[in-house]
Amino acid sequence: MAATEGGVSLARIASIRDAEATRFREARPKSEAAFGNGVEGFLDGVPMHWMNDWPTPFPIVVEKARDATITDIDGNKLADFCLGDTGSMFGHSPAPVAKAIRRQARRGLTYMLPSEDVLSLGELLVARFGLPYWQIATTASDANRFALRVARAVTDRPKILVFNGCYHGAVDETMVRLSDGKPINRPGLAGEFRDLTQNTKIVEFNDLPALEAALADGDVACVITEPVLTNCCMVLPEPGFHEGLRAITRRHGTLLLIDETHTISTGPGGYTRKYDLEPDLFVLGKPVAGGVPASVWGMSAELSRRYDAYNLRREPGHSGMGTTLSANPLQFAAMRAVLEEVMTEENYAHMEKLAGRLAKGLEDSIARHELAWHVQRVGARVEFICAPGPLKNGGDAEGAHASGLEAAIHVALVNRGVLIAPFHNMMLISPVTTKKQVDKLIAAFGDIAKALVA
Ligand SMILES: Cc1ncc(COP(=O)(O)O)c(C=O)c1O
Repeated sequence: MAATEGGVSLARIASIRDAEATRFREARPKSEAAFGNGVEGFLDGVPMHWMNDWPTPFPIVVEKARDATITDIDGNKLADFCLGDTGSMFGHSPAPVAKAIRRQARRGLTYMLPSEDVLSLGELLVARFGLPYWQIATTASDANRFALRVARAVTDRPKILVFNGCYHGAVDETMVRLSDGKPINRPGLAGEFRDLTQNTKIVEFNDLPALEAALADGDVACVITEPVLTNCCMVLPEPGFHEGLRAITRRHGTLLLIDETHTISTGPGGYTRKYDLEPDLFVLGKPVAGGVPASVWGMSAELSRRYDAYNLRREPGHSGMGTTLSANPLQFAAMRAVLEEVMTEENYAHMEKLAGRLAKGLEDSIARHELAWHVQRVGARVEFICAPGPLKNGGDAEGAHASGLEAAIHVALVNRGVLIAPFHNMMLISPVTTKKQVDKLIAAFGDIAKALVA
């Protein structure tokens, strides 16, 4: 039998990928002249190495992005379902955010002191997410790092626990994987000289007995997890998983950090609010300031009491938390605009409705072409997976990746005017995404699926 990926022959994938790469090039002479060989002065020709990781032959060079549309320097318009991999989940430059940025730009951009926006921001965060104490950082990676530090400090335990397949940003201690059931450093880590598995335990998502066993030693400060794993295809919690996770962590004196950075697609209060989760620590980054780099991390009243007590006995000195540009007035202004005017029930209703339409359209197409693929969704975040589902955990998800096939699909979608997230098959609906754009994606996907099985 011929070799396949996602049920499609490798030969077919290669021929589609070649044809789509040629089509991509022909539509982008200016971009190719600018970026075809990278740009001088940058390592590997790009200011951030991820820009080379898109499956297109060279990066799409953006002229501008408005609402949910990107225009490249060759004049091609793309319906944008990547939305900066969630940073622009509420659309590009939402009007209230742009206005707040303009207002703040006249008043200074950073001064390591509060502005008046802070007076309402604290209340907005408490009311929105239900936890009483908050801090502002600049990236979700930093927020996770700081929250984990607090967890270790108050519990006086050295270890954390993650689920296989997780991603929480550039947080060193979360970079582990299971390989044949054995914990290892995540392959490919540059410059990592430590055995991260010494202080990070790892079990599969949805495996409560394994979690119970891993926490039984009483040395784990904190479990950090997304409520739905969104960075290894998409793995939903099985019924009872979150209740079990909370009960087991409490039983073993382990704190629970819920990272909502992607699952904020669920609704205005994230998955936590919709499903009444009770985290000790909560992290949200990416879209919380509408594309201005910012993140928030919050803690429960009980944890804040323990942290106060810890600080009384801590030796004086730098806590190791905080960065100079964190909690600056531009972040306050933009975040306030997002919380007050952008993350509204009305906007989420629109996102939810169109995401449902998209998921159904993709499912119909998959069924019509008899592909053994599936679609998952968490609110406004939709993912197609080129393997049967549902996936149970990160190990399953690793086996479901079809990187060559996915790359061919991504470039073919771009050639049909649609951009989805690189690395996996994530599509986001913003408040300004239109039904027409969703239907365009469904049609493009159908067209490509037909070509793949032809
Ligand atoms: C769940 C989750 N947490 C944290 C991060 C890190 O975000 P940032 O790269 O903005 O620090 C990511 C990034 O993809 C993420 O998916």
